[in-house]
Amino acid sequence: MKMLTGKRPPAQLPNTNDPCWCDSGQKYKKCHKEADNAYLREERRLLEENRIRKGKVGPQREVPEHIARPEYLKNPGGEPAEGNGRLVRTAEELVRMRKAGAAAAKVLRLAGEAVRPGVTTDQLDAIAHQAAIDLGAYPSPLGYRGFPKSICSSPNEVICHGIPDSRALLDGDIVNLDITVFLNGVHGDTNATFLVGNVDDDSRRLVDVTRECMMRGIKAIKPGRPVSDIGRAIEAHADEHGYGVVRSYCGHAIGDVFHGELQIPHYFDARANTKMEVGMTFTVEPMITMGTFDCYLWDDEWTVVTRDLRRTAQFEHTIVVTETGAEILTKE
Ligand code: MF3
Ligand code: CO
Ligand code: CO
Repeated sequence: MKMLTGKRPPAQLPNTNDPCWCDSGQKYKKCHKEADNAYLREERRLLEENRIRKGKVGPQREVPEHIARPEYLKNPGGEPAEGNGRLVRTAEELVRMRKAGAAAAKVLRLAGEAVRPGVTTDQLDAIAHQAAIDLGAYPSPLGYRGFPKSICSSPNEVICHGIPDSRALLDGDIVNLDITVFLNGVHGDTNATFLVGNVDDDSRRLVDVTRECMMRGIKAIKPGRPVSDIGRAIEAHADEHGYGVVRSYCGHAIGDVFHGELQIPHYFDARANTKMEVGMTFTVEPMITMGTFDCYLWDDEWTVVTRDLRRTAQFEHTIVVTETGAEILTKE
């Protein structure tokens, strides 16, 4: 996107007769008010002009017969059955979850290595789809609740659940690739935001801080503590940078079930009082926004974008709670 000239006004603008935010001592209306409005008007015009538009979604990719399918594919609409609510994994399940996690991490790396200006998100879907199959894994999104593709690809203002399509990535974009695979009866779920070519400093900072938010959330994991500690740590770090934390989508329990009942908010919510226990597996996947955390859903019923069209980033790991903290399962 073309660069705006001048300084972005603060998120909270003064009242017209109050002192200007720039500490000139002048009234706001005599100082920055006009320049701020011009800046915000131009920013809005650029965001609207450059917003992500839906491309063409190609046909569903095939998965060879010998690869085991998750249970929801047997149900109409790919609707998962009610979860059984079991949160703690057996040692044997954890062995399988490490393998599924490593497979997801490898697929994410391979898809991420293919990110460059000109590549379409559907080409990234093809790469990830093949990589999962090569590992003997099923790409969990494919057919989940009717999702038509094998991964989620979410550029710029797309918060999550973007559908890979014919849109080519542009120099300066950021793009989140979210990979889930089903291997040996369990899921591994991980995502990362990648830079496309030369990316502006503000977007790079957003991506760096979002990765830090995920890691701070993971570091807050301790058996005996409520899961709300995770969101508290994430939100504190996002606040420090003036960023928003998406509230409408959360981390989730994961195992033989893709999305277990337990939710992990990425902001502080005192109601998230489930105590962490050794052997619990869930995801930490904060979505952090430059502006508002308010969401808007496209009419494809999947693609979630920021209401103000400003950029957003996400990172995700699947973890298991240990005696001392957490072990990341989605690593190679
Ligand atoms: N991988 C996403 C998550 O982190 C879920 C994607 S569901 C899909 O929970 F249907 F959109 F693929
Ligand atoms: Co995911
Ligand atoms: Co997830």
